[in-house]
Amino acid sequence: MPDTLTVTDNRTGKQYEIPIKDGVINATALRQIKTGPEDIAGLATYDPAFMNTASCRSKITYIDGDQGVLEYRGYPIEQLAERSTYLETAYLILFGELPSAAQLKEWTTQITFHTMLHENIKKLMEGFQYDAHPMGVFLSTVGAFSTFYPDAKKIFDEASRKKQIHRLIAKVPSVAAYAYRHSIGRPYIYPDNDLSFTGNFLNMLFRMTELKYKVDPALERALDVLFILHADHEQNCSTSAMRGIGSSHVDPYSAMAGAAAALYGPLHGGANEAVLRMLNEIGSVQKIPDFIKRVKAGEGRLMGFGHRVYKSYDPRAKIIKKTADEVFEVTGKNPLLEIALELERIALQDEYFVTRKLYPNVDFYSGLIYQAMGFPVEMFPVLFAIPRTSGWIAQWEEMILDPEQKIARPKQVYIGASRRDYVPLDKRS
Ligand code: ACO
Repeated sequence: MPDTLTVTDNRTGKQYEIPIKDGVINATALRQIKTGPEDIAGLATYDPAFMNTASCRSKITYIDGDQGVLEYRGYPIEQLAERSTYLETAYLILFGELPSAAQLKEWTTQITFHTMLHENIKKLMEGFQYDAHPMGVFLSTVGAFSTFYPDAKKIFDEASRKKQIHRLIAKVPSVAAYAYRHSIGRPYIYPDNDLSFTGNFLNMLFRMTELKYKVDPALERALDVLFILHADHEQNCSTSAMRGIGSSHVDPYSAMAGAAAALYGPLHGGANEAVLRMLNEIGSVQKIPDFIKRVKAGEGRLMGFGHRVYKSYDPRAKIIKKTADEVFEVTGKNPLLEIALELERIALQDEYFVTRKLYPNVDFYSGLIYQAMGFPVEMFPVLFAIPRTSGWIAQWEEMILDPEQKIARPKQVYIGASRRDYVPLDKRS
């Protein structure tokens, strides 16, 4: 018995056999069904916000939202967070397999080699206002990279793509650190090639006058784990932006500026920043019930709760909770933690959140860790963008090489005015 869906058109009595493959039907197969005698284009589907539409086939990340499963290239996130490093995970996401020792050495060398920024990038970043949001600086600078590396336009040249991958993975921490130092009026710190990927990032952020920055190994590891957790998350808003923009065959820097812009929004990568603002606004455990009441009345959302895909506990949130304990041992407890824990406890028992399957997502606790590590809230989305760079480029490259992909162009259902004649200004009421 072939795997097909039989559609009967009640108006004509005609039947259509639509093949089902990998759990989906091809939307263009519906075109053979006409909605009327004049209809040439055929039947289409209406799916605002892509609630039930797959836009690609992908081998990168698997999510089972009901079971709380997240895997990169088949490896469970829990195992990667426990045993891998961000750079190794980025390699896995980009190239499909865990690297051999020699491959990891070469990859690490390449990334270390590309961490420096062109001096003119520095000048460009100096042009921003002292209080510019670092995410705005970040996405503008990534876009500006396309003018520094015009060879990136050769998107079908494998060697060129590899070079842009090295540049992007290596340079995003430098851009993020420069954006941060700029916002607090401190001089930019050049990369230190003796340090690990995250160790060097902490060096570029926090080094003062000491000759060598001493990295705290617990904080270095915690940041690395957070980077692993944020590396990819299949077809989310920013990744869809990366693929959508990239589908016009623009260079990856321009596409990634758009992806970073999508991540900036409070419903996506800006959520951890919004969580901290929310916790500050609540201010004390006693005020939580009143806050929950307002959320339930539709006067705002419980930030860091809910997810388009996860309808159970976000597996990343579980790992983050453990990482938070390790960080707080070094930094001391974040005073907002008490409010967050109580908020979670109350929400998870409340019928409103239970029936809607709203659980803490990755951003509920990550902001508390970042704040305890000394990051201002404005840096939170930037800290998300650094590791997500590996996911964005992996997804972009997969799209570029996929023969089924074309320039992205959704359909619309037109509901505006019918054809009418232009009215001169003096005849308008
Ligand atoms: N607080 C209160 N109510 C919520 C929340 C929330 N955080 N999230 C969803 N709901 C409610 C909605 O009001 C809606 O209720 P209704 O059916 O009575 O109208 C129902 O739950 C379903 O919500 P949708 O908006 O349809 O869910 P959607 O999948 O579109 O949204 C999203 C997912 C954007 C993440 C949403 O849950 C949200 O806004 N959460 C807060 C922001 C946040 O934490 N974002 C980070 C996501 S993780 C990431 O990007 C890394």
